[in-house]
Amino acid sequence: MTHRLDPAAGSLLVASHNKGKIIEIRELLEPVGFTIVSAADKNLPEPEETGTTFEENARIKALAAALATGLPALSDDSGVEVDALDRAPGIYSARWGGPDKDFTMAMRQVEEKLQAKGATTPEARRGRFVAVLCLAWPDGTTREFRGEVEGQIVWPPRGTLGFGYDPFFQPDGHDRTFGEMSSEEKHGWRPGQADALSHRARAFQRFARDMLGIS
Ligand code: IMP
Repeated sequence: MTHRLDPAAGSLLVASHNKGKIIEIRELLEPVGFTIVSAADKNLPEPEETGTTFEENARIKALAAALATGLPALSDDSGVEVDALDRAPGIYSARWGGPDKDFTMAMRQVEEKLQAKGATTPEARRGRFVAVLCLAWPDGTTREFRGEVEGQIVWPPRGTLGFGYDPFFQPDGHDRTFGEMSSEEKHGWRPGQADALSHRARAFQRFARDMLGIS
């Protein structure tokens, strides 16, 4: 089996049921020629994320989809790490939203924990978004691509764009949160351009360079 990806093949299976992620992955991958088919489109079950790192969870999701379909599959495991909270919520970012996926509540929980620690200055409120993409083939081969973006946790949250924890994260060098940025601004990247901004776009930049030869 060749471990290459050819946009001429047309579609790529994305092992995610998260609508916010699928929208962003579509925006990042369609310009390089792929049509995205999601795990939800294929009625694939969501595997339990039992790993202890973003890489392990990304592998679990991509391998489950590749083995179930016999097709190469791409997953994204991501989250926000807050330094003052020993990098929580981290890999548990989705779980902090609870069964209702309520990220207003999850952001409030982070804020309450920061307040309890007296973390009121910008330096005390450092954190990052992390995304690990995993590409898996049905023979069990995997490749991972990590992207991170450093920034500050702000309160109250600002903006209604994006998804999840976007409204309370202000990336370094910017005076707006991801929730106040269009997705083009949040990604900061188109294939062939140098500087991606978001964690996910940075991971995609590595993926495009290594797998598609696009710098
Ligand atoms: P998982 O990768 O499916 O475990 O879920 C990651 C969770 O982290 C998502 O449900 C979001 O709440 C959060 N997250 C990941 N990436 C982003 C992002 O780009 N913006 C805001 N929240 C994100």
